[in-house]
Amino acid sequence: MSLPASDLSKQPDNRTTMELGACLPMTAEVKDDHLFIGGVDMVELAHDYGTALYVYDQADLENRMETYRSAFQSRYENSNVAYASKAFLNKAVCRLVARHGLCLDVSGGGELAIARAVDFPMERVVVHGNNKTPQELQEAVEAGVGCIVVDSRTELARISAIAQKLGTTQDVYMRVTPGVEADTHEYIRTGCEDSKFGFTMRDDFAFSCIKDFLNTPHVRLAGLHMHIGSQIFALHSFGEAVDVIVELAARIKREYGYEIDDIDVGGGLGIAYTAEDKPASIDDFAETITTAMKAACAKYDFKQPRILCEPGRSLVAVPGVTLYTVGNLKTLPGIRKYVAVDGGMSDNIRTALYHADYEPVIANKAGQPRTEIVTVAGKHCESGDAVAIDRPIQHPEIGDVLCMFGTGAYCHSMSSNYNGQPRPGIVFVKDGKATLVTRRETYADLMACDID
Ligand SMILES: Cc1ncc(COP(=O)(O)O)c(C=O)c1O
Repeated sequence: MSLPASDLSKQPDNRTTMELGACLPMTAEVKDDHLFIGGVDMVELAHDYGTALYVYDQADLENRMETYRSAFQSRYENSNVAYASKAFLNKAVCRLVARHGLCLDVSGGGELAIARAVDFPMERVVVHGNNKTPQELQEAVEAGVGCIVVDSRTELARISAIAQKLGTTQDVYMRVTPGVEADTHEYIRTGCEDSKFGFTMRDDFAFSCIKDFLNTPHVRLAGLHMHIGSQIFALHSFGEAVDVIVELAARIKREYGYEIDDIDVGGGLGIAYTAEDKPASIDDFAETITTAMKAACAKYDFKQPRILCEPGRSLVAVPGVTLYTVGNLKTLPGIRKYVAVDGGMSDNIRTALYHADYEPVIANKAGQPRTEIVTVAGKHCESGDAVAIDRPIQHPEIGDVLCMFGTGAYCHSMSSNYNGQPRPGIVFVKDGKATLVTRRETYADLMACDID
């Protein structure tokens, strides 16, 4: 794995931090050349808690939860939002989700265990996974989760057997892949036909499996689910997929006389990773989904179902940043300039994995223009280990505190201990106060599971 060749023609944008617009957490401000988030000086925070460090703007997190809920419920009363916890999950964020009345999408037993640990209301939990183990299914049914999203007939039979043993009936959704090509990176596109997820619509397979759902005891087909991909900017893809899934729901009613209650439209709204990105707003997303839902229900003569949506990235990515300390600089004339930090692919795999873009600034020079183009390299034993490639930054020096914006989603949750790197701690900041919500791992944690 190596980096793509540096684009030597690229010019720095000379933007200061506050000119990064939608990449910034809601409470970001610059005072005396220092970056503040939640009223807390990021330079002081880095010194107090050490780096690498994940930091979340709690007010922004909570604001997005409320914005999502009201964007949907003001347009379509019978709706709710299930936070896709795969994007970022610890007990603190789970408590916020519970407090704001949202539902929770968990993938597998580990995420469910975290939800249970904070007494998250189980009836508001939706369980995902293309290959949930029998044990995970058992844990979900036993916990009394609101719904399990079924990805295969094998899984349907397993849930039925578990529910029968427990003397209960489990609500399920059927996950369908609507065959819509979302406008996003192929690694994070899930709703097209070549997908490991769910029931394909191809050759009428999904519809042909409906009778299995209706004839299987101890399960109730409560709804249909789709998720077409992630980091999507083109909202029309969502509208097209809604049309496909409502048509399926209407056909189920026509041919079996059975009406599903819910349609879960998945997540996928894109965010601004760079100042050039122009994502749609949460309101635009809700408008597209609810308008498409009403139109499709009228078109196919189907009652308006409850809508559930499952945002992950668009709830938590922008409120989260990562702080690093610059440990080394290396300029290779005619090739690139490296700024090496004390983290990398262990706390953010997305850049190494698919060259994701991020905006870096130097938190102790935050008011200054970004006058240089650099690659922010990690500290790991891979040539492709970087967290930003060819991005503008203020003049870097050893000891600077570097802040990478937009790292709140799929960074901590995809983190690793590669090279024996303890995972960073997580701090929530709000109203001038910093709260450590997950402590930094220790060397002892690296060996905690080893048997002597
Ligand atoms: C089933 C499902 N729902 C929701 C999401 C969240 O997507 P996003 O973070 O793009 O909003 C995902 C992400 O892959 C998913 O697989």
